[in-house]
Amino acid sequence: MEERMFLLEKYASLGQIAAGIAHELNNPLSGMLLIVKELQKDNLSTEEKLQYLSLLYEGMLRVQSILRELLQFSRAEEVKAETIDLVDVLEKSLGLISHLISKNGVELKKDYESDRIWVKGDAKKLGQVFLNLILNAIQAMEADAQKSLTIKVKAEREHAVVSISDTGPGIPEELKLKVFEPFFTTKPPGQGTGLGLTVALAIIQKHQGDLWFETSSSGTTFYVKLPLAKQNKNEA
Ligand SMILES: Nc1ncnc2c1ncn2[C@@H]1O[C@H](COP(=O)(O)OP(=O)(O)OP(=O)(O)O)[C@@H](O)[C@H]1O
Ligand SMILES: [Mg+2]
Repeated sequence: MEERMFLLEKYASLGQIAAGIAHELNNPLSGMLLIVKELQKDNLSTEEKLQYLSLLYEGMLRVQSILRELLQFSRAEEVKAETIDLVDVLEKSLGLISHLISKNGVELKKDYESDRIWVKGDAKKLGQVFLNLILNAIQAMEADAQKSLTIKVKAEREHAVVSISDTGPGIPEELKLKVFEPFFTTKPPGQGTGLGLTVALAIIQKHQGDLWFETSSSGTTFYVKLPLAKQNKNEA
């Protein structure tokens, strides 16, 4: 139960953090733009110019301190490298949104190659990635009569690959490069911040993994590839 609260809170706060950062940066920037406009006028006295310049300097200091805070935040966000069971992580993420899956009438199919697949990584962060991808899949099928979500886990030689497939409308050609961009969303205001895939990609890259998708008009599959932990070999 505690685990559930933590993950959900964390997911919700991502968008809030981003909105906060954008707002924080926008304030001093808007101020500085106005000052530059004033400085471009040619009837200013030297005294006025100096005053404007000192305001500009203050704005820049403010931006610098926000960026400093942000950097600290990102350092604190280092991922752990523990030996964890990918199937367990996936099942926990699914558990968190099982109510959404049934409420939306989504048929769930699972195909796990084995009961336990050990990878090196951060269970909480990977859980967040799967949550983002599964939520996207469910949201993509919202308007469809027939909704099917298929989750597969395979172990290859050095890597585990998780695939999350939906039967939604697919990602249009012109958006394929955009979906990983921060704040890119096609969802109505208030429903998506456009950070889900950005955050997912950042987390997977920190795991020395890969995140990509295949899409057509009959659906989309997102793939997550992660390095296997040595433990799998001992079990075999
Ligand atoms: N499975 C999918 N099928 C179709 N389109 C998708 C799928 N996954 C993502 N997208 C597209 O990519 C966009 C960006 O996804 P992303 O998860 O980054 O943000 P979001 O879902 O819009 O908002 P957030 O995840 O921050 O709540 C989505 O708005 C949607 O247009
Ligand atoms: Mg999303």
